[in-house]
Amino acid sequence: MQRFETYLNENLPKAASFHPVYEAALGDMLKAGGKRFRPMLLLSIVDVYEPMLYNSALPVALALEMFHTYSLIHDDLPAMDDADLRRGHKTLHKRYDEVTAILAADALNTDAFLCISKAPLREDIKIKLVMLLAQNGGGQGMVLGQAIDCYFENKPLDIEQIKVLHTNKTAKLIAASLQMGAVIAGLDAKMQKALYDFGIDFGLLFQIQDDIIDETQSEEEAGKPTGNDGDKNSFINLLGLEKSIEEADDLAKDLQRRFETFDEKLQEALRPLITKYLYRHQ
Ligand code: IPE
Ligand code: IPE
Ligand code: MG
Ligand code: MG
Ligand code: MG
Repeated sequence: MQRFETYLNENLPKAASFHPVYEAALGDMLKAGGKRFRPMLLLSIVDVYEPMLYNSALPVALALEMFHTYSLIHDDLPAMDDADLRRGHKTLHKRYDEVTAILAADALNTDAFLCISKAPLREDIKIKLVMLLAQNGGGQGMVLGQAIDCYFENKPLDIEQIKVLHTNKTAKLIAASLQMGAVIAGLDAKMQKALYDFGIDFGLLFQIQDDIIDETQSEEEAGKPTGNDGDKNSFINLLGLEKSIEEADDLAKDLQRRFETFDEKLQEALRPLITKYLYRHQ
C-alpha cells in the first residue's frame, strides 16, 4: 500500500500551463485518498505470483485508480448524484467549478490508458490490459451502469435489474482489476476467468455494502454525503435495511465458500484485502 501511495504521489498527472487551477484539479481527488481497493487487488496478485513485476505493474495500478477517480468525479456532479464531499474533501465542482470537474475527470479517463501504454510490460500484455479496462469501464461496463442508475432514479427496478445495474457500475471494474493482475502475472485463462467471475459477485457485494453505508453511516465516517440514495435503485430501497443485510450476508457466505476453493497462494494474496467485506456482518 505504501509503495503504491508513494508511486501515486510521485506520478500525479502533470499538465503545466498558464491555467491557474487545471493541473491541481487533476491531482486533487487522487491525492485525497480512498481505499485504493482496485489498485491493491491488482498489485496483490502480481506480488504473490510475480513479485519481480511489481514495479512494472505500478503504472497499471495507478491507471485503475485514475479511471476509478474519474468515475467518482463525474458521479458527484450536480447532473448525477450532486455530492459536495468525496474522500473527506470538497468535490471538484464545489472547490472549482463544474467545467473544471468535468474536464479533470475526462483527462484522468484518457490518461489512464496513456499510463498503461507506457508501462514497462510486454506489448501484447498491455493491449490486453487496455482492452480489459475499456471493456469493463466503458460503454458496456461502468458507464452503462451509471446510465441505468441515473435514468431510473425514481423509477423502481426489480431485483434482477438492480443486480444488472450494480454489476455494470461497480462489479465489472473490480473484476477487471483482478483479471488485469492475473494477466500481468501470466496466470492462465482458467485462473483469469475464475478471478473475473469471483470479482463480479464480489463487486455486487461491495456495492450492496456501499448502499448499506449510505443508510447507516455518518458523513464523517463515510467521507461522502450519506442518506443520499433516497431516489436510487438500491437493495435498501427495494428490500429494506434488514433484508438487504441478510442478502449481503448470504452473498458473502457464498463468496467465502468459493474463496476457500482458490489455491493457497491466491487466498494469501487476496485475504488481507477482502476478508473485511466477506465477514463484515459476523
Ligand atoms: C465508491 O468506490 C464507489 C463505488 C463503486 C461504491 P470506493 O468505495 O472504492 O471509493 P474510494 O476509492 O474508497 O473512495
Ligand atoms: C457510484 O456508485 C459507482 C461509480 C461508478 C462511481 P455510488 O453513487 O453509490 O457511489 P458513491 O456512494 O457516491 O461513492
Ligand atoms: Mg452514483
Ligand atoms: Mg454517488
Ligand atoms: Mg453509494
